[in-house]
Amino acid sequence: MSLFGLGRSQIPFDMFDLRLNATEARRAEKLANIYHRGQELQWNGRRVLGELLDKHGGVHVAADKRAALMRIFSILMWGELAAWKVSAQLADRLVPLGAKLAASSQVHDEARHFYVMYDYLSLHGPVPTRIDRPARALLDIVLETDDLCLKLSGMQLLIETIALTIFQAVRESGVEPVLCELLRYYEKDEARHVGLGLQHLPVMLRSLPRHRAIALLLAQAQVMGWAMAELKLLEDDLRTIGVDPRRVFTLGLSKQALAFEALARETGAGPTVEGEIVNRLMTAAGEALFPDEQAQAGGVWGRLRAMQRALRGMVAPDLPPSSIDPDAPAARPAGRGARN
Ligand SMILES: [Fe+2]
Ligand SMILES: [Fe+2]
Repeated sequence: MSLFGLGRSQIPFDMFDLRLNATEARRAEKLANIYHRGQELQWNGRRVLGELLDKHGGVHVAADKRAALMRIFSILMWGELAAWKVSAQLADRLVPLGAKLAASSQVHDEARHFYVMYDYLSLHGPVPTRIDRPARALLDIVLETDDLCLKLSGMQLLIETIALTIFQAVRESGVEPVLCELLRYYEKDEARHVGLGLQHLPVMLRSLPRHRAIALLLAQAQVMGWAMAELKLLEDDLRTIGVDPRRVFTLGLSKQALAFEALARETGAGPTVEGEIVNRLMTAAGEALFPDEQAQAGGVWGRLRAMQRALRGMVAPDLPPSSIDPDAPAARPAGRGARN
């Protein structure tokens, strides 16, 4: 803190002093491109929504589906506000130019996502101003943390992939034509936001001590736990609008596995024992909460067998204690489901 403005400056004048190797320079270039690409692809929210409403003659949703649609999308709308706030925090706190540019571009996108979703939902009626506790908890974990690794991985790799999953599943359901077309615009933007995490997290994870890597993993598991609890609460509403909750669970898992595999490739590290344990516990919990037809038909034992299958081979013996620990032995190549 400075007294009379005479203390340490908040302007990072040394931001260009970092010496980058070839890989880091390539990453910085990709991050800056996220910003430039975002500028080229930005869409006018008011115009797009207006054109879609003209095209379809307004919004059309069956009366018995409206309440469920409002409940699901009011959560997503407040999630867009949280993403706007988190990306603004990142744009302020990230120092390297490429990462700062990418986060700034995301701020602009999330602002548009928020107001367009609000305008769209207002066409159906009053927009709810409360969301379920699990949804609020998972957003608050990422909003409140001072740990930039958790903020970045929580928003860019976990929450963005959850949003992408629900957007895709709802779009495929065809529940409301204006919304389904609008979601294509959202999906393209959100995919760019995942890119910020993939390109910048490897730089941050490289120097992360093992105890902080484990704390990060546990915090990520909390976010995932709340996300599953919210999905369970939304189960009936999802079915009402024609979306299978299990499909959301399996699609979400596969999108996150792909994101974490890509991160592991960028980091040059493989899965860790801790990551595998968390991954399989999450999958087992999901199998119990959202069983497939066979497990459901088998009752409690069916679910237990599905959980057992998910847990089987939980600890792979050749995994290093922590592949992002600088002192850990060399990691094996990245595998499916690597979480860090
Ligand atoms: Fe968004
Ligand atoms: Fe986003």
